[in-house]
Amino acid sequence: MTRNAYYLTTAIAYPNGEPHIGHAYEMIATDAIARWRRLEGRDVFFLTGTDEHGLKMVQTAEREGLSTKALADRNSARFRELAKTLNISNDDFIRTTEERHFKSAQEIWRRMERAGDIYQSTYTGWYSVRDEAYFDESELTETPSGKKLAPSGAEVSWVEEPSYFFRLSAFADRLLKLYDEQPDFIAPKERRNEVISFVKGGLDDISISRTTFDWGIPVPDAPGHVMYVWIDALTNYITGVGFPDDTGAQFEKFWPADLHVIGKDIIRFHTVYWPAFLMSAGLAVQKRVFAHGFLTSEGKKMSKSVGNVVDPFVTVEEFGADPVRFYCLREISWGQDGDWGREKFINRNNSELANNFGNLAQRSLSMISKNFGGQMPPRQSGSGEDNKIIAETIAAISRMENAMVTEQLHEATAELIAALSAANLYFAEQAPWGQKSDMARMGAILATTADVIRRAAIAAQPFVPEAASRFLDMLAVPKDQRLLQHALDPDLVVPAATVLPAPEPVFRKFETAKAG
Ligand code: MSP
Repeated sequence: MTRNAYYLTTAIAYPNGEPHIGHAYEMIATDAIARWRRLEGRDVFFLTGTDEHGLKMVQTAEREGLSTKALADRNSARFRELAKTLNISNDDFIRTTEERHFKSAQEIWRRMERAGDIYQSTYTGWYSVRDEAYFDESELTETPSGKKLAPSGAEVSWVEEPSYFFRLSAFADRLLKLYDEQPDFIAPKERRNEVISFVKGGLDDISISRTTFDWGIPVPDAPGHVMYVWIDALTNYITGVGFPDDTGAQFEKFWPADLHVIGKDIIRFHTVYWPAFLMSAGLAVQKRVFAHGFLTSEGKKMSKSVGNVVDPFVTVEEFGADPVRFYCLREISWGQDGDWGREKFINRNNSELANNFGNLAQRSLSMISKNFGGQMPPRQSGSGEDNKIIAETIAAISRMENAMVTEQLHEATAELIAALSAANLYFAEQAPWGQKSDMARMGAILATTADVIRRAAIAAQPFVPEAASRFLDMLAVPKDQRLLQHALDPDLVVPAATVLPAPEPVFRKFETAKAG
């Protein structure tokens, strides 16, 4: 039996700068999954937050002339604000500088140490501050001027210092067994293959403490050592559900996590290191990791020097959260790289949200308001065309449900739009405005269209939550009838004679060319 509790997380971002559209994308996608699971009636816990330790934070703060804590406080607040701005439904926001997290990271360390998987030695090798990762000489490339670069293009520096190590090499077989027994542990598939061949290539032990700076969580009983930022960061996922103190309630209920949503650049940390740490500490391993792609801006890699970084606050200010959310979920194939493009965004908004969804609702509800005194007219149960469009809508929503089993957000949103296109066709063919001589027929067409909109709006809540709830309010749908089951139930309709509030436009159209 599947449990009803469902726990999912985003990666926690480094607050070394302002959030950009890539961070927004991850929050939006994870939020859509969280809301979908709630729509299914599951008891969801959704965690996001910021990853505040590590050398990158220290160096950025030095450059900005701030204390590291001040930098973390300032930018972490921006990520928290971003979640609000995007209408993200996270249940908690964790900061790795919080006391609860220090306790949790130190406890997992102690457990790994007790298991005999931690030993002391000296690290000599390359480190990339931007990636906060160690690299083997063989993974590096060299620029014509002799600089060594990590695969991400970030410069590496030589590190030589006493360090604790984690015996990752001992976990290869257990990890391969995990991937084998849980084929959906890593998604999408291409990523799974990548990870498997990486582990099959053999694992080295990893350095897990630093002694040359002190911005981090102290290693228990080891003065001078702070934890490697990734041990600390990954542990946030258990801190967030009450580890180590609340093991009886929150932790029991929600751990292991059902899903970690992350970007493709940090898959190794989540599918190799993290399960190995958990196994070592005697804790259950998360159930699944989904690695999404990267967003570019107008076809180019986002970079401060190019000046093409898309600011999600400015974008939402201009267009509203729902259209931005919708674009990210509909335009970008889940798991693939994608692009943020202003014109593509506006076209999608105008044709799919404003026309397909918004106009259909506005036209049908206005006709109910004008011709039926704002009361839902009765349907005609014998009408084949009416029954057919409702059956088609229900079928599309169950295809959405299927797509969402494996979090296929772009397919789910495509199904939603296809269902609304079919409803527009029905509306045009039935032409209720031409039925003045048969008001019962006109009413039935309008009631049928309204019912399609009700079902579509229920299913649209995870993607465009604000707009969807406005549609449902305009249809006087009670708050306790907004779950997936209510969209799929063929016998449930808005009862005839229900008084509807005056309809108002929900989506706006935008001009593609920038004004001025
Ligand atoms: N702090 C680590 C994650 C620790 S999780 C225990 C980190 N932070 S990050 O700020 O660099 O990235 C946060 C998330 O945003 C990651 O999942 C990353 O892949 C994602 N993205 C960063 N840039 C992105 C794009 N341009 N596009 C889409 N997602 C991107 O890594």
